[in-house]
Amino acid sequence: MEEGTQYYHTPVMPQEVLTFLSDIEGIESSVVVDCTVGEGGHSELILKTWGGLKLYGFERDREILAIAHKRLSPYGNRVVLINDNFKNLWLHCRGMEKSIAAFLYDFGISSFHFDGSNRGFAFKTQEKLDMRLDDSVTLTAYDVVNNFSENELARIFSTYGQERWSHRIARKIVQKRSEKAIENTEQLANIVVQAIPGQYRVKHIHPATRIFQALRIFINDELSAINESLEHALGYVKPGGRIIAISFHSLEDRIVKDRFRRWSRGCSCDNDGLLCGCPADPLVTVLTKKPLQPKESEIRENPRSRSAKLRVCQKL
Ligand SMILES: C[S@@+](CC[C@H](N)C(=O)[O-])C[C@H]1O[C@@H](n2cnc3c(N)ncnc32)[C@H](O)[C@@H]1O
Repeated sequence: MEEGTQYYHTPVMPQEVLTFLSDIEGIESSVVVDCTVGEGGHSELILKTWGGLKLYGFERDREILAIAHKRLSPYGNRVVLINDNFKNLWLHCRGMEKSIAAFLYDFGISSFHFDGSNRGFAFKTQEKLDMRLDDSVTLTAYDVVNNFSENELARIFSTYGQERWSHRIARKIVQKRSEKAIENTEQLANIVVQAIPGQYRVKHIHPATRIFQALRIFINDELSAINESLEHALGYVKPGGRIIAISFHSLEDRIVKDRFRRWSRGCSCDNDGLLCGCPADPLVTVLTKKPLQPKESEIRENPRSRSAKLRVCQKL
């Protein structure tokens, strides 16, 4: 990176996000909550588009929030940035039920994490195995890779990475770490490659991609935060307001899809079938029967957008 130049994460499906916001009645003078402010890409677009709107932005990573602070400073007191996990949004949104027009989620991590954080999210450079998104997370990727049992590792890789070779990879890790601790991303990526049968190694995504993703999701407890946060968002968004969620992982998307579907049937509890005593009056209309995906032109310009899926629901 050139000195003095700030490269930002490119916001995914920006036009689609703005279009779904623009149909909300009174958006111009409402509050929009960006639950994953990152480097502020979506937030800035929203602030620019509606001059009377106020934006609350959540971001659990202090380092990246500092970038958003700088970028969004021209918008003064129209922006409130909160360094917290979006699962805690209820702590900050209390009393705002009548004014919140939308919650926006853009899950996962940012280009900054891969390219500039030096925290072990990227395996193409040699970085320490860390992967923590905030200080509340105590386990590092190093702890997991060097101390968890073979079975625990295999479970993490198969649950969060849906990795076909999870047992082989876990076994190889345990074998290699008995010779020498696995200290960095390059070592781990090489072990993953060695564990996978030769004919399956050459694919368009690097074999270590799913393993790194699985470790990150596990360490930062990302999926339960999504579940908890969506429930709160439904409680706080005003009638006619929307929840917009962009997922990059099928497990994230499944949580969003299930929540939206249950809400549309009037259920907002976690009980299944007969145990559910919810009133059955629909709570939302789902506006995306199928998730929207980025256009070819966006994928060409921003290949990291390729797995994005966007879903939207509107509160009744
Ligand atoms: C894909 S990036 C968002 C990019 C942003 N929309 C933009 O256009 O610049 C996702 C961000 O959400 C943050 N994040 C992930 N999980 C979070 C959580 N549970 N609470 C708050 N922020 C979270 C990550 O640290 C990351 O910066």
